[in-house]
Amino acid sequence: MKLVYGRLSAVYGSPTYATHRRESPHFPMKSDQDLYKQLRDLPKEELWAREVPRFDAAQARERLERVAVIRAVGMIFSRFGTDEEQAVVRAWLINLLKDPQEKIRRYALAALPKIGAGEVGEREILALLKTRNKDKEGRETRYLGRALEKVGGEATLALIEEGIELPAMTVQKVKAGVSRREDAGGVLLDALLPLRHGDADMRVLLRCRRGLEDFVRDEAAEKLSTMQWMIESTKPGCVTLKPLKEFKLASLYQLRCFATVAFPLGTVSGEEGPKWVEPLARCIASERARDLMLSGTENAPRYRLEFAGGGHQRGAIRQVIDRAYALCPEILNDARKAPWSIDVMAANRGESSVELRPRLYPDPRLGYRQDDIAAASHPPLAACMASLAGFCDDEVIWDPFCGSGLELIERGRLGGVTAVHGTDLDPKAIEVARANFEAAKIEGMETEITSSFTECDFRDAPITPGSISLIITNPPLGRRVRIKDMQGLFADLYAAASRALRPGGRLVLVNPLRTEPQDPTLHREYQQTVDLGGFNCRLEMYRKVGAGKLGKSFKTSLKGQAEKKKQATSKLKFKNEPDEKKAPAPAPAWWSKGGHSNSRETRRRARI
Ligand SMILES: C[S@@+](CC[C@H](N)C(=O)[O-])C[C@H]1O[C@@H](n2cnc3c(N)ncnc32)[C@H](O)[C@@H]1O
Repeated sequence: MKLVYGRLSAVYGSPTYATHRRESPHFPMKSDQDLYKQLRDLPKEELWAREVPRFDAAQARERLERVAVIRAVGMIFSRFGTDEEQAVVRAWLINLLKDPQEKIRRYALAALPKIGAGEVGEREILALLKTRNKDKEGRETRYLGRALEKVGGEATLALIEEGIELPAMTVQKVKAGVSRREDAGGVLLDALLPLRHGDADMRVLLRCRRGLEDFVRDEAAEKLSTMQWMIESTKPGCVTLKPLKEFKLASLYQLRCFATVAFPLGTVSGEEGPKWVEPLARCIASERARDLMLSGTENAPRYRLEFAGGGHQRGAIRQVIDRAYALCPEILNDARKAPWSIDVMAANRGESSVELRPRLYPDPRLGYRQDDIAAASHPPLAACMASLAGFCDDEVIWDPFCGSGLELIERGRLGGVTAVHGTDLDPKAIEVARANFEAAKIEGMETEITSSFTECDFRDAPITPGSISLIITNPPLGRRVRIKDMQGLFADLYAAASRALRPGGRLVLVNPLRTEPQDPTLHREYQQTVDLGGFNCRLEMYRKVGAGKLGKSFKTSLKGQAEKKKQATSKLKFKNEPDEKKAPAPAPAWWSKGGHSNSRETRRRARI
């Protein structure tokens, strides 16, 4: 057998893999596990060129003692092997399925799915199953079932239909796997989801980040038909709707402020464990879950089970899945690419709520997303910010920290926008924002929208003072993007906003600090604490107050500010900002010239 060595240097250069040679064990091992731990650290050539021939040539007893070689080969080549190497390893493992020793066959059965069994491997496993099926309760039959759960395809399904006996879990997984491979299918947004006669308890939960629920409720009230939906309650992180008649998921996905949709199925109480098996299985197999999944899925309905609290008992989960399948064999459990999720979420007083959630990846609301950046905003948060900013004609927007451009796009979608400007230090972010914005195909009022995306520090942004009607931004929050001086950054942001905004213009931002602008021209109109995934920030809106509209105290303090400015040179200066003392009005920056020209030349230059 010839092993083709591929890009080994790449493998050995990988920090996850041992690069140095270790002594191969030549002494008797305490257990298979000990030997496995030593072998898995060997370079793959050594494992293949030395350990495998030694295993192949050994007498029956030594082969049993060194059976861990099979496990180590399966693990290492599944992770680090090239396609050619895996093909050779696969052939070796398939050959081991014919070994006279049961333990060796069992190890090969466990290793084969990691590498991928292929049609030949599946056939050999089935051949073994036919000879072993007399011993239905035996250990090898269990291993055969587990291997088929992962690799079973059409051939296995045909045998199941002929009546070969396999554990219920194996049957379910094979059916789900075949359905997934044929056509992964997905949730049907346009299917009418039935409201079973008498199911007056059916509810739909629109879940969101805590603090954003009022936006979700208001958007639902504005866009959903009152003939079809009743808004029942608004609680932190959740708006509950009652459907009044059958509905389509598409009607919910026209809303942009919620994060996920879920259908409550019931509750389980007490500690997670065997006591949950029956009630949880009954929720999964309930008429409501069945109706929703059967009507709302393109292919065979498949679900994955998710526990919001994390840790769960494997044994109990297998029992839940088996029991749910016994109650409703039309719905299949499948952890991979399942269109639905059954979520078990901690609720009140020792109860957990069981909910059915469509898994829509990518989210149909984000069809414009060409690419992403690590620090991207949570899209529903961007939609809530746009909603907070509200609609205003002839809107000229600037996002000083535009990242992938979500806030600009969400506000753009609401209409009335003439020009958008994004700045960001990161060149990749600028590229992504530009691509996303173009893909979003946002329509302007009468003319096309002018857009510019500039790689620069926001302090150097090419923005004409007083030209912007809305600054909407999710600044670095000091977590994913580290910032040395957050206080300084926010002070500069407020100063930049005060200069860039027209009188009446708004600044909508996420604020991780408890500081407010010192500048009296920025007047706070809104503040709400929002959970941004484990830490709280404030969603805020300020309005630029024109000098004429400032109260006496504002005017006085403005005067004070002007005095101070004379003494200290501000750190912050826009490129086009005029010297305050010099009389002539500034020429507008090239991108804002002539009230946002729509000429091809302007647009070409705008994409710097
Ligand atoms: C939270 S992310 C913005 C995410 C963005 N709203 C989106 O939709 O993807 C903050 C962004 O600020 C940028 N940034 C950090 N410091 C900056 C600075 N001084 N000037 C301009 N951009 C900056 C980072 O590169 C990052 O892309």
